[in-house]
Amino acid sequence: MRHSMLPPLIGISLIVVLVCSLRCKDQSTAPKAPNPYPFGAPSSLPLDAHAENRRLARCVNFGNALEAPEEGDWGVILTVEYFQLVKEAGFSGIRLPIRWSAHAKSASPYTIDRTFFERIDWAVAEALSRGLNILINMHHYEEIMERPADHQARFLALWGQIAEHYKNYPDGLLFELLNEPMGKLSAALWNQYLAEAIAIIRSSNPFRMIVVGPVNWNNYNALTALQLPEAERGLIVTFHYYNPFQFTHQGAEWVDGSSAWMGTLWPNPAMTAQTLASELTQAAEWGQKNDRPIFMGEFGAYSKADITSRHLWTETAARQAENRNISWAYWEFCSGFGIYNPSTRAWNHALLSALMP
Ligand code: BGC
Repeated sequence: MRHSMLPPLIGISLIVVLVCSLRCKDQSTAPKAPNPYPFGAPSSLPLDAHAENRRLARCVNFGNALEAPEEGDWGVILTVEYFQLVKEAGFSGIRLPIRWSAHAKSASPYTIDRTFFERIDWAVAEALSRGLNILINMHHYEEIMERPADHQARFLALWGQIAEHYKNYPDGLLFELLNEPMGKLSAALWNQYLAEAIAIIRSSNPFRMIVVGPVNWNNYNALTALQLPEAERGLIVTFHYYNPFQFTHQGAEWVDGSSAWMGTLWPNPAMTAQTLASELTQAAEWGQKNDRPIFMGEFGAYSKADITSRHLWTETAARQAENRNISWAYWEFCSGFGIYNPSTRAWNHALLSALMP
């Protein structure tokens, strides 16, 4: 009996060896399927927007790089070192201004340039791989402010592509719909467009945090005009804070008449720390009333202002925001408002210490 069983056993063994070697060979030569979640998967459950906003905490804007017409046009080309410096300084994330509108076709389907997408992928990866959150926005879409109806479809198509492209990225990637809506993009139009953009994003990114702010250049005083889809809870509401403007924008080349403001110190009798605090309270109260977390997505004072005043203003704005559960992103890393000097490769310690005590 034993003897007669041997041939089938040997046969089975041979088949096993053959199949195994074929499979092994198969694995070594077949292209590997790309990992759809190289940085971790997005949440499969709704997120608590307030908790996500606390995670945002203290961010910095990588301004003047990817929202210039071409990266480098405004003197900033992002490097790996910048991400590392920001991480080591203790920031929790980066707001990345992006001029998508200059890198997409002007006719339907408004395809975004592949090389540009790859550059954004690189920046997003540099942040996420270091445990930094990264908020990508749509910045300097000037045409939609001037001719909203002509650009509505393009705006929505751009978000459709961005959302699809990043749908597998983890929750540390956030989307901000549009920087500083203003001009002919009225509150009524903006309330309509933002709801449409949110619906498009939600079809591929059910739970990703979406950041959205009011008209009037994201001014806190326009929050009352902001209408959000009530059932949509995955939103963080942003505003920008540059008050008093005559102080923060003194000598700013892009602001008419600002050279006359040179020498404005802060605080001064007309513009006190109490004024600043009460304006942030208005933003925080709007958030409480509407049960929306609040993010101060830009604030800063230009380099032509007195540095002691800049330190005091920056420190006051950051601490008063934190006291009101407002997360923030300083404007900006290494240009005219910068906290880091890329030429000397040195931090501006007066400003860094104001932000990160
Ligand atoms: C603009 C920048 C400007 C900054 C301060 C930002 O929203 O995009 O160009 O420097 O505000 O004015």
